Amino acid sequence: MSIAYLNGEFLPLEQARISPLDRGFLFGDGIYEVIPSYGGKLVGFGPHIDRMKEGLSLIEIGLDWDHQQWRDLCEQLCAKNGNGNLGVYLHVSRGADTKRYHAYPEGVQPTVFGFTFDIAEPPVADKTKAKAYKVSTTEDMRWRRCHIKSTALLGNVMHFQQGYAAGNNETILYNADKLVTEASACNVFMVKNGTVFTAPLDNQLLPGITRLMLLDVLKKYTDIPVKEEFFSLADLMAADEVWLTSSSKEVAPVTHVDGKAIGNGQIGAVWEKAQTAFEAHRYDY
Ligand code: PDD
Repeated sequence: MSIAYLNGEFLPLEQARISPLDRGFLFGDGIYEVIPSYGGKLVGFGPHIDRMKEGLSLIEIGLDWDHQQWRDLCEQLCAKNGNGNLGVYLHVSRGADTKRYHAYPEGVQPTVFGFTFDIAEPPVADKTKAKAYKVSTTEDMRWRRCHIKSTALLGNVMHFQQGYAAGNNETILYNADKLVTEASACNVFMVKNGTVFTAPLDNQLLPGITRLMLLDVLKKYTDIPVKEEFFSLADLMAADEVWLTSSSKEVAPVTHVDGKAIGNGQIGAVWEKAQTAFEAHRYDY
């Protein structure tokens, strides 16, 4: 049985209860994080909590836990759930009001919730074992504050479903100018003539922690050139390699976009180098 945390208490997940007036439930008014942990070792903990704190500040939820408090919670959740391969889900909503009213309420305590779920073994940089992703594409129809890791994920869910219903694993999104921004639950990279490209950070995409770590690792430990520049849907289709990044996937190779092969339709050599470098440094952040 999985052990969760809710507002100061550890309890079996099945017994955790929130009010139907919780603004997380009514409005999706909250911030969340997903942090992988392998054998009790958290990946990217510092930057995940930086992003959580930044999100809480942007939406004006006054919860001032420091990194150590978050670390204690994550480590206790992992230990109570067996310290295996776990995704640690952290969620702070604006809390349960006494009525449904849009304005931020005063004097309401934020709801703090955490639980873990099983994830696969840490990914390995082996072309013969790695999963080759197939993705759809569509125009991004979400809001203009995609840099906030909001729990209001209906736009992402609908985009993900579009790819899923087409038999694919993800949906890559492009804006009205046909520039690739991110995917429904991942950041997007492409390789062209040996150079790695990913969209620069702005309001159109989540500042992914795997994206941040991968860029740093590539710059520090490899000779692969990296550019944070927008590229178009046409560039994506003509890329030599396409990758997705997210906390549980790390660097995931994409071989087909909208049913068309990327490059020769096989997992690429630059991916193998990138994931190898990532693996060597996954616990550094
Ligand atoms: N998804 N972009 C979006 C829209 C995301 O939802 C995510 C993560 C990412 C990658 O971010 P990171 O590298 O920090 O995991 C990019 C998470 C894991 C989820 O919603 O389950």
